[in-house]
Amino acid sequence: MTDILGAADYLRSVTSDFKPEVAIILGTGLGDFADNIEVHTSIEYKDIPNMPVSTVEGHKGRLIFGHIAGRRVVAMQGRFHYYEGYTMRQVTFPVRVLSLLGIKYLFVSNAAGGINTSFRVGDLMIITDHINLLPNPLIGPNMAEFGPRFPDMHDCYSSAVRAKATAIAERENIKLQYGVYVGTTGPTFETQAEYRYFKAIGGDAVGMSTVPEVIVARHMGVPTFGVSVVTNCGLSDEKGDHEDVQNQGRKAGIRLAKLFIELIKELE
Ligand code: HPA
Repeated sequence: MTDILGAADYLRSVTSDFKPEVAIILGTGLGDFADNIEVHTSIEYKDIPNMPVSTVEGHKGRLIFGHIAGRRVVAMQGRFHYYEGYTMRQVTFPVRVLSLLGIKYLFVSNAAGGINTSFRVGDLMIITDHINLLPNPLIGPNMAEFGPRFPDMHDCYSSAVRAKATAIAERENIKLQYGVYVGTTGPTFETQAEYRYFKAIGGDAVGMSTVPEVIVARHMGVPTFGVSVVTNCGLSDEKGDHEDVQNQGRKAGIRLAKLFIELIKELE
């Protein structure tokens, strides 16, 4: 707990007590989203006390505080994955810290493999729900200061925010898919049998992130909005490739940025 408080205190001091309303976790290839932020303060992860440091190619390790359309936001450029060897506590550490700064919403984006056969590479999938196949980040003594021992998970991905996103997408002519995100440890992509298995249990897309951060946000009562960029279709013959994932992420990132920005403008 003191490690989380320490990091939050540090951020308050170096941002002159900037209070972000929305935190945005930028997934693979979506790092350019930060260009839309009118920067107030940018902080390297390595300078934040107790913060883990990101190792994956294509991920910068930086927190960017600033404004989008006059709203106060903080973007996480670079996130921590369980497959990198971080503990679940480390993976979810930044979300805990940002919640102490008073965020009202968490936006998450990620790259995911499509399992719904109507999905195409480059599609944006609004996450309606998830299936967690990672260790649960709330295992261990409950941090009662943050939330309950047994959090309810209904409407974990805020239906109110999703409805707004749908209206914006219609207005802006952005094609959206909707579905259930299956969170796995990685780092292997799935075998064909595994993609079929995830489809059978109700998944529409699969990826290696997001679920831990969302569970922790849920624990703290922070409403979440999540979008997956479909970077490959698991049940077709193409195989997963990190470079391709990054390219598809970048192209779809332009549409996703538009959606996020319009949503931020319209949030209560
Ligand atoms: N599986 C898991 N994670 C992923 C995939 C996938 O097919 N594509 C992008 N991230």
